[in-house]
Amino acid sequence: MHIASIGISKLCFLFSLALCGLLFLLIPALKPPAQQLDWPRPRAQVRPQRPRLSNGVSAASDDSQKAESTTRLVISLAGQKALDETENTKDENYVPKRSGDLQGTAGGLLRHRGHDLLILEDIFIAVKTTRKYHTSRLELLIKTWISQAKEHTFIFTDSDDKELQMKTGTNLINTNCSAAHTRQALCCKMSVEYDKFIESQKKWFCHMDDDNYVILPSLLQLLSSYHHSQDVYLGRASLDHPIEAAERVRNDGSVSVKFWFATGGAGFCISRGLALKMSPWASLGNFISTAEKIRLPDDCTVGYIIEALLEVTLTHSNLFHSHLENLQRLPTDTVLEQVTLSYGGFDNRKNVVSIVGGFSLAKDPTRFQTIHCLLYADTDWCPKK
Ligand SMILES: *[C@@H]1O[C@H](CO)[C@@H](O)[C@H](O)[C@H]1NC(C)=O
Repeated sequence: MHIASIGISKLCFLFSLALCGLLFLLIPALKPPAQQLDWPRPRAQVRPQRPRLSNGVSAASDDSQKAESTTRLVISLAGQKALDETENTKDENYVPKRSGDLQGTAGGLLRHRGHDLLILEDIFIAVKTTRKYHTSRLELLIKTWISQAKEHTFIFTDSDDKELQMKTGTNLINTNCSAAHTRQALCCKMSVEYDKFIESQKKWFCHMDDDNYVILPSLLQLLSSYHHSQDVYLGRASLDHPIEAAERVRNDGSVSVKFWFATGGAGFCISRGLALKMSPWASLGNFISTAEKIRLPDDCTVGYIIEALLEVTLTHSNLFHSHLENLQRLPTDTVLEQVTLSYGGFDNRKNVVSIVGGFSLAKDPTRFQTIHCLLYADTDWCPKK
């Protein structure tokens, strides 16, 4: 009996001890949640990892509100692991708020992606030429700008030239089109250019003439401000008013259509998204029949398909230049920022950009070598300083 009562009070003592311990453990859980909100969150640990978005734009900002979203951006980019390390995930108050914020951040990320960080590989550069100019015009281009984009430049001509191809390693495509400078022959080449671009899977189509110097960094910069899935038609309008033509594709020719077109002599670019929409009137020889119907040259026909049939407007750019303009009037300090340049033909040899550099006007009458050496000074044939 005596022993038993001792046993009971011992049990009581142990029981109350366990109860006290349990209550003690429960104290933090019974605290109001507001106090937990004030716990410092180790955000500072995350901040140094400034997010470099996939398009290379740093989302860094001094604005505190933006810094907050920067942190969340890191979280969304680094995934749940970073989330667990950054915030007290046991605190359920944060969960709904945070997932909402993540959605907001994802939206912001998509908005950033309106622009495209391009590389040369994304651009299909077509150069239109003819047998007659393989030596006098093409060799200069191959020596200069094409050498910097050899794999992405395709020369569309009207005869085979194995020697030039072997010597320079360029992509020379014999279109099998006529060598005559007629509307039909030019449209035939444009038609082949279009089909080869579609086949290439590249993001941008840029058509150039064999008297254009393409300033590749400027071209990349210009196209990077658009997205290839948008409808983009970029170039220089050759006239100061839209061209008017009889509508013979959707009509019998009794009504006329007005549209702008980018002059082929200055070069122009078309996004892949838009090029795909042109397909019914441009692919597999359809370009030739479209051009025949409206009886206009190749570059006009491109404008007709885009502006008149697809109702997409030409984005006028003064960065493209043809030999039809007064090239001397281009300010010297802006020459290297242009996208394309050109030079006067036989009738107007003096129409070249005014730029001073490695070569005299006698040695470099087109100024293309001088421009090239200003852009790529370490080229082996450029004069050493
Ligand atoms: C031109 O003709 C040759 C020989 O028939 C052919 O191999 C080549 O594919 C043709 N070129 C084009 C662009 O169709």
